[in-house]
Amino acid sequence: GANAQWGGRFAGGPSAIMQEINASIGFDRALWRQDIRASLAHAAMLARTGIIEAADEQAIRAGLEQIAGEIEAGRFEFDAALEDIHMNIEARLSERIGEAGLRLHTARSRNDQVATDFRLWVRDAIDGLDAQAAALMLSLSRRALQHAADPMPGFTHLQTAQPVTFGHHLLAYVEMLARDRGRLADTGRRLNQCPLGSAALAGTSFPIDRRMTASALGFDRPCGNSLDAVSDRDFALEYLSSLAIMAMHLSRLAEEIVTWCSSPFGFIRLSDAFTTGSSIMPQKRNPDAAELIRAKTGRITGALVGLLTVMKGLPLAYAKDMQEDKEPVFQATGSASLSLAAMDGMVRDLVAETGRMNALAGSGYATATDLADWLVRVLKLPFRTAHHVTGRLVGRAEARGVDLAGLSLAEMQAEEPGITGDVFSVLTVAASVASRTSEGGTAPGNVRRAAQGWIAQLSGD
Ligand code: ARG
Repeated sequence: GANAQWGGRFAGGPSAIMQEINASIGFDRALWRQDIRASLAHAAMLARTGIIEAADEQAIRAGLEQIAGEIEAGRFEFDAALEDIHMNIEARLSERIGEAGLRLHTARSRNDQVATDFRLWVRDAIDGLDAQAAALMLSLSRRALQHAADPMPGFTHLQTAQPVTFGHHLLAYVEMLARDRGRLADTGRRLNQCPLGSAALAGTSFPIDRRMTASALGFDRPCGNSLDAVSDRDFALEYLSSLAIMAMHLSRLAEEIVTWCSSPFGFIRLSDAFTTGSSIMPQKRNPDAAELIRAKTGRITGALVGLLTVMKGLPLAYAKDMQEDKEPVFQATGSASLSLAAMDGMVRDLVAETGRMNALAGSGYATATDLADWLVRVLKLPFRTAHHVTGRLVGRAEARGVDLAGLSLAEMQAEEPGITGDVFSVLTVAASVASRTSEGGTAPGNVRRAAQGWIAQLSGD
Protein backbone atom coordinates (compact mmCIF):
# COMPACT_ATOMS: atom_id res chain seq x y z
CA GLY A 1 0.00 0.00 0.00
CA ALA A 2 0.92 3.68 -0.04
CA ASN A 3 3.44 5.06 2.46
CA ALA A 4 1.95 5.82 5.86
CA GLN A 5 3.74 9.18 6.14
CA TRP A 6 3.06 10.65 2.71
CA GLY A 7 0.34 8.31 1.45
CA GLY A 8 -1.97 11.22 0.70
CA ARG A 9 -0.19 11.94 -2.52
CA PHE A 10 0.44 8.32 -3.53
CA ALA A 11 -1.82 5.58 -4.82
CA GLY A 12 0.76 2.80 -4.99
CA GLY A 13 3.68 1.74 -2.80
CA PRO A 14 7.35 1.61 -3.70
CA SER A 15 8.93 -1.35 -5.45
CA ALA A 16 11.07 -3.65 -3.35
CA ILE A 17 14.18 -2.28 -5.03
CA MET A 18 13.09 1.30 -4.35
CA GLN A 19 12.64 0.41 -0.72
CA GLU A 20 16.02 -1.28 -0.56
CA ILE A 21 17.97 1.59 -2.06
CA ASN A 22 16.02 4.15 -0.06
CA ALA A 23 15.97 2.64 3.41
CA SER A 24 18.57 3.77 5.92
CA ILE A 25 17.11 2.11 9.01
CA GLY A 26 19.78 -0.60 8.78
CA PHE A 27 22.38 1.91 9.91
CA ASP A 28 20.68 5.10 11.07
CA ARG A 29 19.02 3.28 13.98
CA ALA A 30 22.29 4.24 15.68
CA LEU A 31 20.77 7.73 15.94
CA TRP A 32 17.82 6.65 18.06
CA ARG A 33 18.91 8.29 21.30
CA GLN A 34 19.65 11.57 19.55
CA ASP A 35 16.37 11.41 17.63
CA ILE A 36 14.34 10.96 20.78
CA ARG A 37 16.29 13.65 22.59
CA ALA A 38 15.71 16.13 19.77
CA SER A 39 12.02 15.24 19.52
CA LEU A 40 11.56 15.78 23.26
CA ALA A 41 13.14 19.24 22.95
CA HIS A 42 11.06 20.04 19.87
CA ALA A 43 7.78 18.97 21.52
CA ALA A 44 8.56 20.95 24.67
CA MET A 45 9.20 24.02 22.53
CA LEU A 46 5.98 23.48 20.56
CA ALA A 47 4.01 23.39 23.80
CA ARG A 48 5.80 26.37 25.33
CA THR A 49 5.11 28.50 22.25
CA GLY A 50 1.47 27.39 22.20
CA ILE A 51 1.81 25.58 18.86
CA ILE A 52 0.57 22.36 20.45
CA GLU A 53 -1.42 21.75 23.65
CA ALA A 54 0.40 20.97 26.89
CA ALA A 55 -1.52 17.71 27.10
CA ASP A 56 -0.22 16.65 23.68
CA GLU A 57 3.32 17.41 24.77
CA GLN A 58 2.85 15.27 27.88
CA ALA A 59 1.55 12.39 25.78
CA ILE A 60 4.43 12.78 23.34
CA ARG A 61 6.95 12.82 26.17
CA ALA A 62 5.52 9.72 27.81
CA GLY A 63 5.30 7.95 24.45
CA LEU A 64 8.87 8.77 23.45
CA GLU A 65 10.16 7.64 26.83
CA GLN A 66 8.38 4.33 26.42
CA ILE A 67 9.81 3.95 22.93
CA ALA A 68 13.28 4.63 24.28
CA GLY A 69 12.68 1.80 26.75
CA GLU A 70 11.55 -0.52 23.97
CA ILE A 71 14.61 0.20 21.85
CA GLU A 72 16.93 -0.10 24.83
CA ALA A 73 15.44 -3.48 25.67
CA GLY A 74 15.69 -4.69 22.07
CA ARG A 75 11.91 -4.97 21.82
CA PHE A 76 11.41 -2.33 19.13
CA GLU A 77 10.57 -3.63 15.66
CA PHE A 78 12.39 -1.61 13.07
CA ASP A 79 10.57 -1.58 9.74
CA ALA A 80 12.42 -0.95 6.47
CA ALA A 81 9.15 0.18 4.90
CA LEU A 82 9.36 3.16 7.26
CA GLU A 83 12.71 4.02 5.72
CA ASP A 84 14.66 5.55 8.55
CA ILE A 85 14.93 5.95 12.31
CA HIS A 86 12.94 9.20 12.29
CA MET A 87 9.85 7.68 10.69
CA ASN A 88 10.16 4.44 12.62
CA ILE A 89 10.01 6.30 15.91
CA GLU A 90 7.32 8.73 14.78
CA ALA A 91 5.10 5.94 13.43
CA ARG A 92 5.46 3.97 16.65
CA LEU A 93 4.62 7.09 18.65
CA SER A 94 1.37 7.62 16.77
CA GLU A 95 0.58 3.95 17.11
CA ARG A 96 0.96 4.28 20.87
CA ILE A 97 -0.57 7.69 21.61
CA GLY A 98 -2.73 8.44 18.57
CA GLU A 99 -3.38 11.98 17.46
CA ALA A 100 -0.86 13.73 19.73
CA GLY A 101 1.85 11.74 17.98
CA LEU A 102 0.67 13.03 14.62
CA ARG A 103 1.32 16.58 15.87
CA LEU A 104 5.01 16.06 16.69
CA HIS A 105 6.18 16.79 13.16
CA THR A 106 4.67 20.32 13.20
CA ALA A 107 7.21 22.99 12.18
CA ARG A 108 9.83 20.32 11.53
CA SER A 109 11.13 18.32 8.58
CA ARG A 110 13.28 15.24 8.49
CA ASN A 111 15.87 17.50 6.93
CA ASP A 112 16.45 19.60 10.04
CA GLN A 113 15.71 16.57 12.19
CA VAL A 114 18.44 14.39 10.70
CA ALA A 115 20.95 17.24 10.63
CA THR A 116 20.29 17.84 14.35
CA ASP A 117 20.45 14.16 15.31
CA PHE A 118 23.66 13.68 13.38
CA ARG A 119 25.36 16.69 14.96
CA LEU A 120 24.38 15.39 18.39
CA TRP A 121 25.80 11.98 17.50
CA VAL A 122 29.11 13.38 16.26
CA ARG A 123 29.36 15.57 19.35
CA ASP A 124 28.98 12.50 21.59
CA ALA A 125 31.47 10.56 19.47
CA ILE A 126 34.02 13.36 19.85
CA ASP A 127 33.69 13.15 23.63
CA GLY A 128 34.24 9.40 23.58
CA LEU A 129 37.28 9.49 21.30
CA ASP A 130 38.75 12.42 23.19
CA ALA A 131 38.66 10.41 26.41
CA GLN A 132 40.28 7.45 24.68
CA ALA A 133 43.01 9.60 23.14
CA ALA A 134 43.69 11.14 26.55
CA ALA A 135 43.99 7.66 28.06
CA LEU A 136 46.51 6.64 25.40
CA MET A 137 48.50 9.83 26.00
CA LEU A 138 48.64 8.99 29.70
CA SER A 139 49.84 5.44 29.01
CA LEU A 140 52.51 6.71 26.63
CA SER A 141 53.62 9.35 29.14
CA ARG A 142 53.92 6.79 31.93
CA ARG A 143 56.05 4.53 29.74
CA ALA A 144 58.08 7.57 28.71
CA LEU A 145 58.81 8.44 32.33
CA GLN A 146 59.89 4.87 32.97
CA HIS A 147 62.27 4.99 29.97
CA ALA A 148 63.33 8.64 30.18
CA ALA A 149 67.02 7.67 30.37
CA ASP A 150 67.05 4.55 28.18
CA PRO A 151 68.83 5.21 24.89
CA MET A 152 67.73 3.82 21.57
CA PRO A 153 68.95 4.50 18.05
CA GLY A 154 67.33 7.58 16.56
CA PHE A 155 66.77 7.40 12.83
CA THR A 156 66.39 9.61 9.82
CA HIS A 157 65.77 7.85 6.50
CA LEU A 158 65.58 4.79 8.79
CA GLN A 159 69.38 5.07 8.92
CA THR A 160 71.08 5.40 12.30
CA ALA A 161 71.26 9.12 13.02
CA GLN A 162 71.84 10.07 16.67
CA PRO A 163 70.97 8.34 19.92
CA VAL A 164 67.68 9.38 21.52
CA THR A 165 65.88 8.02 24.54
CA PHE A 166 62.97 5.63 24.22
CA GLY A 167 60.96 7.93 26.46
CA HIS A 168 61.60 10.87 24.15
CA HIS A 169 60.42 8.84 21.17
CA LEU A 170 57.18 7.87 22.95
CA LEU A 171 56.53 11.49 23.94
CA ALA A 172 56.66 12.50 20.28
CA TYR A 173 53.38 10.58 19.87
CA VAL A 174 51.93 12.27 22.95
CA GLU A 175 52.46 15.62 21.21
CA MET A 176 50.72 14.32 18.07
CA LEU A 177 47.77 13.01 20.06
CA ALA A 178 47.46 16.33 21.88
CA ARG A 179 47.05 18.07 18.53
CA ASP A 180 44.58 15.36 17.43
CA ARG A 181 42.49 16.14 20.49
CA GLY A 182 42.75 19.83 19.69
CA ARG A 183 41.40 19.21 16.20
CA LEU A 184 38.50 17.17 17.60
CA ALA A 185 37.74 19.91 20.11
CA ASP A 186 37.76 22.55 17.36
CA THR A 187 35.40 20.38 15.33
CA GLY A 188 33.10 20.11 18.33
CA ARG A 189 33.10 23.87 18.87
CA ARG A 190 32.30 24.66 15.24
CA LEU A 191 29.57 22.04 14.92
CA ASN A 192 27.76 23.19 18.04
CA GLN A 193 24.98 25.12 16.31
CA CYS A 194 21.49 23.72 16.09
CA PRO A 195 19.77 23.08 12.73
CA LEU A 196 16.39 22.33 14.34
CA GLY A 197 13.70 24.78 13.23
CA SER A 198 15.14 25.19 9.74
CA ALA A 199 12.40 22.76 8.67
CA ALA A 200 12.66 21.48 5.09
CA LEU A 201 14.85 24.32 3.83
CA ALA A 202 13.11 27.68 4.20
CA GLY A 203 12.26 27.85 7.89
CA THR A 204 8.66 27.76 9.09
CA SER A 205 5.63 30.00 9.46
CA PHE A 206 4.98 28.71 13.00
CA PRO A 207 6.13 30.96 15.87
CA ILE A 208 8.85 28.57 17.02
CA ASP A 209 11.62 29.37 19.50
CA ARG A 210 14.84 28.06 18.08
CA ARG A 211 16.89 29.36 20.97
CA MET A 212 14.91 27.19 23.32
CA THR A 213 15.53 23.96 21.40
CA ALA A 214 19.15 24.87 20.75
CA SER A 215 19.89 25.41 24.41
CA ALA A 216 17.86 22.38 25.54
CA LEU A 217 20.07 20.25 23.31
CA GLY A 218 23.30 21.83 24.54
CA PHE A 219 24.02 23.81 21.37
CA ASP A 220 25.55 27.27 21.61
CA ARG A 221 22.99 28.81 19.24
CA PRO A 222 20.72 28.00 16.31
CA CYS A 223 22.35 27.75 12.85
CA GLY A 224 22.04 31.12 11.13
CA ASN A 225 20.73 30.11 7.71
CA SER A 226 18.04 27.49 7.18
CA LEU A 227 19.39 26.41 3.77
CA ASP A 228 22.88 25.93 5.13
CA ALA A 229 21.59 24.22 8.27
CA VAL A 230 19.89 21.37 6.40
CA SER A 231 22.51 20.86 3.72
CA ASP A 232 25.85 21.43 5.40
CA ARG A 233 27.82 18.34 6.32
CA ASP A 234 31.15 19.98 6.89
CA PHE A 235 30.91 19.13 10.59
CA ALA A 236 31.04 15.47 9.54
CA LEU A 237 33.86 16.11 7.08
CA GLU A 238 35.87 18.03 9.62
CA TYR A 239 35.32 15.23 12.12
CA LEU A 240 36.48 12.64 9.58
CA SER A 241 39.51 14.79 8.72
CA SER A 242 40.43 14.91 12.39
CA LEU A 243 40.04 11.14 12.62
CA ALA A 244 42.04 10.56 9.45
CA ILE A 245 44.95 12.60 10.80
CA MET A 246 44.78 10.84 14.14
CA ALA A 247 44.62 7.45 12.40
CA MET A 248 47.68 8.42 10.37
CA HIS A 249 49.52 9.11 13.64
CA LEU A 250 48.41 5.82 15.13
CA SER A 251 49.47 4.08 11.95
CA ARG A 252 52.98 5.50 12.18
CA LEU A 253 53.32 4.28 15.76
CA ALA A 254 51.86 0.93 14.71
CA GLU A 255 54.43 0.68 11.94
CA GLU A 256 57.21 1.43 14.42
CA ILE A 257 55.88 -1.22 16.79
CA VAL A 258 55.88 -3.76 13.95
CA THR A 259 59.49 -2.84 13.18
CA TRP A 260 60.64 -2.69 16.80
CA CYS A 261 59.33 -6.14 17.65
CA SER A 262 60.77 -7.79 14.54
CA SER A 263 63.69 -10.06 15.48
CA PRO A 264 66.39 -8.10 13.59
CA PHE A 265 65.44 -5.05 15.66
CA GLY A 266 64.34 -6.65 18.91
CA PHE A 267 63.72 -3.30 20.61
CA ILE A 268 60.48 -4.35 22.27
CA ARG A 269 58.47 -7.40 23.12
CA LEU A 270 54.67 -7.34 22.97
CA SER A 271 52.57 -9.13 25.56
CA ASP A 272 50.79 -12.38 24.81
CA ALA A 273 47.54 -10.44 25.15
CA PHE A 274 48.43 -8.33 22.11
CA THR A 275 50.18 -10.92 19.96
CA THR A 276 49.02 -13.79 17.79
CA GLY A 277 50.76 -17.00 16.85
CA SER A 278 51.14 -18.78 13.56
CA SER A 279 49.24 -21.94 12.66
CA ILE A 280 52.37 -23.39 11.06
CA MET A 281 55.44 -21.64 12.46
CA PRO A 282 55.67 -22.37 16.18
CA GLN A 283 58.20 -19.64 16.91
CA LYS A 284 56.03 -16.79 15.63
CA ARG A 285 54.71 -13.90 17.72
CA ASN A 286 52.92 -11.64 15.31
CA PRO A 287 51.98 -8.00 16.01
CA ASP A 288 48.54 -8.31 14.38
CA ALA A 289 46.96 -5.56 16.44
CA ALA A 290 49.59 -3.07 15.27
CA GLU A 291 49.17 -4.20 11.68
CA LEU A 292 45.41 -3.81 11.87
CA ILE A 293 45.70 -0.34 13.39
CA ARG A 294 47.93 0.51 10.44
CA ALA A 295 45.32 -0.90 8.07
CA LYS A 296 42.28 0.75 9.70
CA THR A 297 43.79 4.03 8.59
CA GLY A 298 42.76 3.04 5.09
CA ARG A 299 39.13 2.74 6.11
CA ILE A 300 39.14 6.02 8.00
CA THR A 301 40.81 7.95 5.20
CA GLY A 302 38.43 6.19 2.80
CA ALA A 303 35.46 7.45 4.83
CA LEU A 304 36.71 11.02 4.52
CA VAL A 305 37.34 10.77 0.78
CA GLY A 306 34.02 8.99 0.29
CA LEU A 307 31.97 11.67 2.01
CA LEU A 308 33.87 14.51 0.37
CA THR A 309 33.00 12.90 -2.94
CA VAL A 310 29.32 12.53 -1.99
CA MET A 311 29.07 16.19 -1.02
CA LYS A 312 30.93 17.83 -3.86
CA GLY A 313 28.58 19.21 -6.48
CA LEU A 314 25.35 18.81 -4.45
CA PRO A 315 23.08 21.78 -5.06
CA LEU A 316 21.39 23.39 -2.05
CA ALA A 317 19.49 22.35 -0.08
CA TYR A 318 18.90 18.73 1.02
CA ALA A 319 19.42 15.88 -1.44
CA LYS A 320 19.05 12.22 -0.65
CA ASP A 321 22.73 11.74 -1.43
CA MET A 322 23.27 13.10 2.05
CA GLN A 323 21.80 9.97 3.60
CA GLU A 324 25.14 8.40 2.63
CA ASP A 325 26.87 10.58 5.22
CA LYS A 326 26.22 8.28 8.15
CA GLU A 327 27.90 4.96 7.44
CA PRO A 328 31.35 6.44 6.85
CA VAL A 329 31.07 8.43 10.07
CA PHE A 330 29.80 5.49 12.11
CA GLN A 331 32.38 3.10 10.69
CA ALA A 332 35.30 5.49 11.01
CA THR A 333 34.30 6.15 14.61
CA GLY A 334 34.26 2.43 15.39
CA SER A 335 37.62 1.90 13.72
CA ALA A 336 39.21 4.86 15.48
CA SER A 337 37.87 3.79 18.84
CA LEU A 338 39.10 0.22 18.45
CA SER A 339 42.49 1.41 17.23
CA LEU A 340 42.93 3.71 20.23
CA ALA A 341 41.95 0.90 22.60
CA ALA A 342 44.30 -1.62 21.00
CA MET A 343 47.17 0.84 20.90
CA ASP A 344 46.64 1.64 24.56
CA GLY A 345 46.77 -2.05 25.44
CA MET A 346 49.95 -2.63 23.44
CA VAL A 347 51.69 0.41 24.90
CA ARG A 348 50.81 -0.49 28.47
CA ASP A 349 51.95 -4.10 28.12
CA LEU A 350 55.05 -3.84 25.94
CA VAL A 351 58.44 -4.68 27.38
CA ALA A 352 61.31 -2.48 26.22
CA GLU A 353 64.50 -4.46 25.58
CA THR A 354 66.60 -1.63 26.95
CA GLY A 355 69.89 -3.50 26.77
CA ARG A 356 69.51 -4.22 23.09
CA MET A 357 68.33 -0.70 22.27
CA ASN A 358 71.25 0.77 24.19
CA ALA A 359 73.76 -1.49 22.43
CA LEU A 360 72.40 -0.55 19.02
CA ALA A 361 72.12 3.14 19.92
CA GLY A 362 75.90 3.48 19.62
CA SER A 363 76.33 1.46 16.44
CA GLY A 364 76.47 3.00 12.98
CA TYR A 365 78.69 5.88 14.18
CA ALA A 366 75.69 7.41 15.91
CA THR A 367 77.92 9.74 17.95
CA ALA A 368 79.70 11.22 14.92
CA THR A 369 77.79 14.48 15.37
CA ASP A 370 79.00 14.61 18.97
CA LEU A 371 82.59 14.36 17.71
CA ALA A 372 82.02 17.14 15.18
CA ASP A 373 80.38 19.29 17.87
CA TRP A 374 83.43 18.69 20.14
CA LEU A 375 85.76 19.94 17.37
CA VAL A 376 83.66 23.09 17.09
CA ARG A 377 83.32 23.67 20.83
CA VAL A 378 86.87 22.83 21.96
CA LEU A 379 89.06 23.46 18.90
CA LYS A 380 86.88 26.26 17.51
CA LEU A 381 86.82 24.66 14.06
CA PRO A 382 84.06 25.92 11.77
CA PHE A 383 81.24 23.35 11.75
CA ARG A 384 81.69 22.50 8.06
CA THR A 385 85.38 21.78 8.65
CA ALA A 386 84.57 19.72 11.72
CA HIS A 387 82.02 17.77 9.68
CA HIS A 388 84.71 17.01 7.11
CA VAL A 389 87.29 15.90 9.69
CA THR A 390 84.73 13.69 11.40
CA GLY A 391 83.73 12.16 8.08
CA ARG A 392 87.35 11.15 7.48
CA LEU A 393 87.57 9.67 10.98
CA VAL A 394 84.38 7.65 10.36
CA GLY A 395 85.99 6.42 7.14
CA ARG A 396 89.09 5.29 9.04
CA ALA A 397 87.03 3.56 11.71
CA GLU A 398 84.91 1.84 9.11
CA ALA A 399 88.03 0.63 7.27
CA ARG A 400 89.32 -0.90 10.50
CA GLY A 401 85.95 -2.29 11.54
CA VAL A 402 85.79 -0.37 14.83
CA ASP A 403 83.53 2.33 16.14
CA LEU A 404 84.78 5.88 16.70
CA ALA A 405 85.89 5.21 20.27
CA GLY A 406 87.95 2.30 18.89
CA LEU A 407 90.30 4.70 17.08
CA SER A 408 93.50 5.58 18.90
CA LEU A 409 94.32 9.16 19.79
CA ALA A 410 97.24 9.01 17.32
CA GLU A 411 94.86 8.02 14.50
CA MET A 412 92.59 10.91 15.38
CA GLN A 413 95.49 13.34 15.49
CA ALA A 414 96.56 12.16 12.05
CA GLU A 415 93.36 13.81 10.76
CA GLU A 416 93.32 16.76 13.18
CA PRO A 417 96.42 17.40 15.30
CA GLY A 418 94.56 19.46 17.90
CA ILE A 419 92.43 16.54 19.13
CA THR A 420 93.09 15.52 22.76
CA GLY A 421 92.06 12.51 24.84
CA ASP A 422 89.10 14.53 26.14
CA VAL A 423 87.31 13.75 22.87
CA PHE A 424 86.55 10.20 24.03
CA SER A 425 84.24 11.58 26.72
CA VAL A 426 81.68 12.66 24.09
CA LEU A 427 81.68 9.43 22.09
CA THR A 428 79.49 7.35 24.40
CA VAL A 429 75.75 6.98 23.93
CA ALA A 430 75.07 8.13 27.48
CA ALA A 431 77.12 11.30 27.00
CA SER A 432 75.42 11.95 23.67
CA VAL A 433 71.87 11.86 24.99
CA ALA A 434 72.83 13.65 28.21
CA SER A 435 74.22 16.54 26.16
CA ARG A 436 70.97 17.18 24.25
CA THR A 437 69.60 19.57 26.86
CA SER A 438 68.23 22.15 24.43
CA GLU A 439 64.53 22.79 24.92
CA GLY A 440 62.56 19.82 23.56
CA GLY A 441 65.76 17.77 23.21
CA THR A 442 66.30 14.15 24.21
CA ALA A 443 68.34 14.58 27.42
CA PRO A 444 66.90 12.33 30.17
CA GLY A 445 66.19 15.30 32.44
CA ASN A 446 64.14 16.97 29.72
CA VAL A 447 62.23 13.78 29.00
CA ARG A 448 61.51 13.19 32.67
CA ARG A 449 60.17 16.72 33.10
CA ALA A 450 58.07 16.52 29.95
CA ALA A 451 56.61 13.14 30.91
CA GLN A 452 55.82 14.36 34.42
CA GLY A 453 54.18 17.44 32.98
CA TRP A 454 51.93 15.37 30.72
CA ILE A 455 51.08 12.95 33.51
CA ALA A 456 50.10 15.79 35.84
CA GLN A 457 48.03 17.45 33.13
CA LEU A 458 46.31 14.25 31.98
CA SER A 459 45.51 12.85 35.38
CA GLY A 460 44.22 16.25 36.50
CA ASP A 461 41.95 16.52 33.43
N1 ARG B 1 17.01 9.32 6.16
C1 ARG B 1 17.22 10.63 5.65
C2 ARG B 1 18.70 10.98 5.73
O1 ARG B 1 19.40 10.33 6.40
C3 ARG B 1 16.42 11.63 6.43
C4 ARG B 1 16.12 12.88 5.67
C5 ARG B 1 15.17 12.59 4.58
N2 ARG B 1 14.61 13.77 4.00
C6 ARG B 1 13.97 13.75 2.83
N3 ARG B 1 13.52 14.84 2.39
N4 ARG B 1 13.85 12.65 2.15
O2 ARG B 1 19.17 11.89 5.09
